[in-house]
Amino acid sequence: MYCISSANRNFRNLKPQRLEWSMGLNLLIGENGSGKTNTLETLHLLTGWGPFRSLRKSSLVNWNQPSEQTLMKGFFAGEEHIEIYTVMGSSNLISCDGKRSNFSSVRSRIPALAFLPGDLSLIDGSPSGRRRYMDRICALIFPLYASRLNDCKRALRHRTVLLKQGRDTGITSKVLAPLVSWIWSSRITAMDLVCAGLSSFPDLLPGKLELKHIRGGSVGVEDPLQDFWESIELRRKEEQKYRIPLVGPQRDDIIMTCGDQNASEKFSRGHRRRASVALMLAAAWAVERRLRRKPILILDEIAAELDERGREVMVKSLSGCSWQVFAATAENNIKNWPGVVWEVKNGRIEKSTIPDPGGKI
Ligand SMILES: Nc1ncnc2c1ncn2[C@@H]1O[C@H](COP(=O)(O)OP(=O)(O)OP(=O)(O)O)[C@@H](O)[C@H]1O
Ligand SMILES: [Mg+2]
Repeated sequence: MYCISSANRNFRNLKPQRLEWSMGLNLLIGENGSGKTNTLETLHLLTGWGPFRSLRKSSLVNWNQPSEQTLMKGFFAGEEHIEIYTVMGSSNLISCDGKRSNFSSVRSRIPALAFLPGDLSLIDGSPSGRRRYMDRICALIFPLYASRLNDCKRALRHRTVLLKQGRDTGITSKVLAPLVSWIWSSRITAMDLVCAGLSSFPDLLPGKLELKHIRGGSVGVEDPLQDFWESIELRRKEEQKYRIPLVGPQRDDIIMTCGDQNASEKFSRGHRRRASVALMLAAAWAVERRLRRKPILILDEIAAELDERGREVMVKSLSGCSWQVFAATAENNIKNWPGVVWEVKNGRIEKSTIPDPGGKI
């Protein structure tokens, strides 16, 4: 899918504006605080996701006009034509072609993947970052994923309360068993797809990267449902001792290896950053493969930590994919951007007229 145009009113520091985007690669440049991330966030919201920084959609309303709501509109084309309209503030709603819709159905019709600077530590960062990575992919390729994950989190919270009170947790095990095994199976499928996708981006990788999904607290039985029951049984005493649930997707991770070594040890810092970019592109590849729809990529400041060669390879990989890309950078350090450059100043966005003489934009 492609975002043909978008418009917003009363969104953070952005001036009300309608923008006609390029269907290829869009690069937003501008000083710190100019509104680049906010612009990317409007596209994230129009494609059915939440705010980047806060869980509350009301935080999107311009501080200077808090009593007004934030309105956004987007026209999307590609596999189908869709007009999205959202209202955020005291109430939040999203509509598709004039009919009230829900955020998860918009996500699967207009698949978009956003990667923020923190995602550059996918290889060497905490397991929670890798779980978020799996969740983003799964939420796109499995329509029920987000709601089942929420149900699972709710059951885990209930289990925590029961453990803290020293009460029997049997009822929560029964609720969790089908949810946990389904989430594990979804994550395994997603990681297999990502592994296949990585082979399309060899230039970003210093060696073959292998991924293995690790089930939280698992005793290693192959069938996920049986694994859940056996793991719960084996860890019963430990759970009672520590009073927290020890089995489930909240403790999953991805082991990343290159040859017989752990990728976080084998790759240099720069190579870990490049490999993280490869993982982002492989995620988009997986989504396209599964949904048969071209994803929209939203990339905020991901070039900042790459060296010149890394940035070159990233731009080459992006231009070879025929996905619509929205990238932002404050450092103007991407040479020869093969697409449209937009300048962001005080919340206003304009197509750049600065010539790029093959050097810095
Ligand atoms: N609800 C809001 N109302 C008005 N302004 C806001 C609101 N939320 C954030 N801002 C302001 O928007 C400005 C632009 O933020 P944004 O993160 O988009 O900048 P940026 O161009 O991405 O900068 P950087 O290069 O530092 O990442 C910030 O200075 C922030 O104070
Ligand atoms: Mg920013």
